Amino acid sequence: MLRSLLLAIGRNKAAARFMRRYGARLGAARFVAGTELRDAVAVVKRLNAEGLEATLDHLGEFVSSERDAKHAAGMSLKTLESIHAEGLRANLSLKLTSLGLDVDPRLCERYMRTILSRARELQLFVRIDMEDYAHCQPALDLYRRLRRDYPNVGIVLQAYLRRTERDVRELGRDGANLRLVKGAYRESPQVAFPDKREVDASFTKLIRRQLRQGYAAIATHDEDIIQDTLHWIGQNGIARERFEFQMLYGIREDLQRLLVEGGYRVRVYVPYGQDWFGYFMRRLAERPANVWFLIKNMKRHKMGAIGK
Ligand code: FDA
Repeated sequence: MLRSLLLAIGRNKAAARFMRRYGARLGAARFVAGTELRDAVAVVKRLNAEGLEATLDHLGEFVSSERDAKHAAGMSLKTLESIHAEGLRANLSLKLTSLGLDVDPRLCERYMRTILSRARELQLFVRIDMEDYAHCQPALDLYRRLRRDYPNVGIVLQAYLRRTERDVRELGRDGANLRLVKGAYRESPQVAFPDKREVDASFTKLIRRQLRQGYAAIATHDEDIIQDTLHWIGQNGIARERFEFQMLYGIREDLQRLLVEGGYRVRVYVPYGQDWFGYFMRRLAERPANVWFLIKNMKRHKMGAIGK
């Protein structure tokens, strides 16, 4: 119930406007590097110094105007330039709806091609995040077209979707670089497993399949699944170059560092930008205890405006 409510609020434009003004101090800073690119660069430098790699995401999603899509594409390009200029060990993650997938799919594809061409020149990798179910097939169709021309593009697949086993199998044939996640949106039981145990079982199965067939970015903070995967990797002689762990900025930093100390590759997803509300609400929805953290901050700051 609470999870569904938080995810629904996360799509509400009026709530986003309100939170943009009042919310940063209420806890978003725990999950978001800052509102500016320079904030994110500073975070990535710190992570790199600690042996962690990063993927930078200029926040934004479900844009409804060409102007916003153009701005998002420009910010992705700027992010690539900064990664290169600052010598960061990082790549780029982005959402197709931020590049106008809902406004004009051809425009979105043009922006993706511009971004991927520049990334290829800079020898950088770009990952397409997976959004809600309504965008899954359009995202996969576009990914397939882009992959023919750009080896430096990857995508995300969500273990909670019933269709994903088939998608992993099919994309695996083309040597896709997949980030596997449990899935963060509110979906109907017709298309997604409603039960957490089913999602976890599907996730484990998909990770193993992808480890056998290609490169796997295993994106989770679930310690049991990570341990189980490491055990399986050991038993099956999977080389460390074939996979990496990924976690979100501000979540299970202890586990991130433990894995780095163990010699594993760990990449932290570092989001930044003004449009942090939807992302923040998904982080709250994943863990209801985070709502208490928000309420505590509300009391402490008495709803003060963002002090930039
Ligand atoms: P699970 O939810 O079972 O959590 C396991 C443990 O992790 C919890 O017990 C808790 O300790 C900790 N934890 C998890 N979430 C937390 C939170 N918000 N706050 C505090 N602690 C938390 N989803 C998607 O649909 N499309 C995408 O493109 C991506 N991309 C992506 C990239 C990366 C790098 C990561 C790590 C995750 C995503 N996700 C995503 C989100 C993913 O689908 C999922 O919602 C979250 O990772 C939470 O699930 P876990 O696998 O961590 O397990």
